[in-house]
Amino acid sequence: MRRIEGYVIVSSDDMIADESGEMPASIRNAADQKFFQAALDRVAVVVHGRHSHEGGPRAARRKRLILTRQIAALAPDSSHPNAMLWNPAGATLDEAIKALGAADGTVAVIGGTEVFSMFLPLYDGFHLSRAARARIPGGRPVFAEIGPNVTPDDVLTRHGLKPGKRRELDADAAVTVVTWER
Ligand SMILES: NC(=O)c1ccc[n+]([C@@H]2O[C@H](COP(=O)([O-])OP(=O)(O)OC[C@H]3O[C@@H](n4cnc5c(N)ncnc54)[C@H](OP(=O)(O)O)[C@@H]3O)[C@@H](O)[C@H]2O)c1
Repeated sequence: MRRIEGYVIVSSDDMIADESGEMPASIRNAADQKFFQAALDRVAVVVHGRHSHEGGPRAARRKRLILTRQIAALAPDSSHPNAMLWNPAGATLDEAIKALGAADGTVAVIGGTEVFSMFLPLYDGFHLSRAARARIPGGRPVFAEIGPNVTPDDVLTRHGLKPGKRRELDADAAVTVVTWER
C-alpha cells in the first residue's frame, strides 16, 4: 500500500523561502529538522523539485524523485545515484517509482511550492510545521493558492484533509507541528 505525505515548515505568514528562493535561518529549527529527518529515514521515496534537496548526512541513502522539465519523462541523476529525474508531464508517479526501484511504503513530498501544490489531491497526510516567530514578507508560499485571505489550513481543508492536535516541537522557539489526515 502506498501513502503520500507532505512535510513543510512555514513562517507565521505561511512562507517556505524568501523571495530569492532561499530558506532563511528564521524557519530552520533543530527540533523540526530532527522530526523531519527521522520521518524521511522511514519512507520509501522522497519527492521534490530541483531546488529542494533536504541535505543532511543520510540524504544520499534515500531513494528520491527530483522533478524537472529538463528531461521528457524519466532519467537517472548522474550526481545522485539513488535518485531519478522525473518530469510528470511525461511519466506517472507509478512509472517513476517503478523506474526508481523503490519499495512499497510512504512517499514523502518535501517541496517547493509547485510540487506541494501538485500533490494536494493525493495527500493522505500533511505535516505542517510552523515557526510562529518568523515572518518572510514577499516570500514564497507553501501552496500556490495562499493569498491575503487564504491560509494553508484553508487549502488543506479545501482538499479534504482534517487537522490533528497541535504538537510542540520547540517551545522556546515557538515551533509546532500539526498533522493533517485525509
Ligand atoms: N520551508 C520548507 O519546508 C521548504 C520546503 C521545500 C523547499 N523549501 C525552500 O524553497 C526554496 C525552493 O523553492 P522552489 O519552489 O524554487 O523549489 P523546487 O520546487 O525545489 O524547484 C523548482 C524546480 O523544480 C522543477 N519542478 C517544479 N515543479 C515541476 C513540475 N510540475 N514539473 C516538472 N518540474 C518541476 C523545476 O525544475 P527545472 O527548472 O529543472 O525544470 C523547477 O524549476 C528553497 O530555498 C528550498 O530550500 C523550503
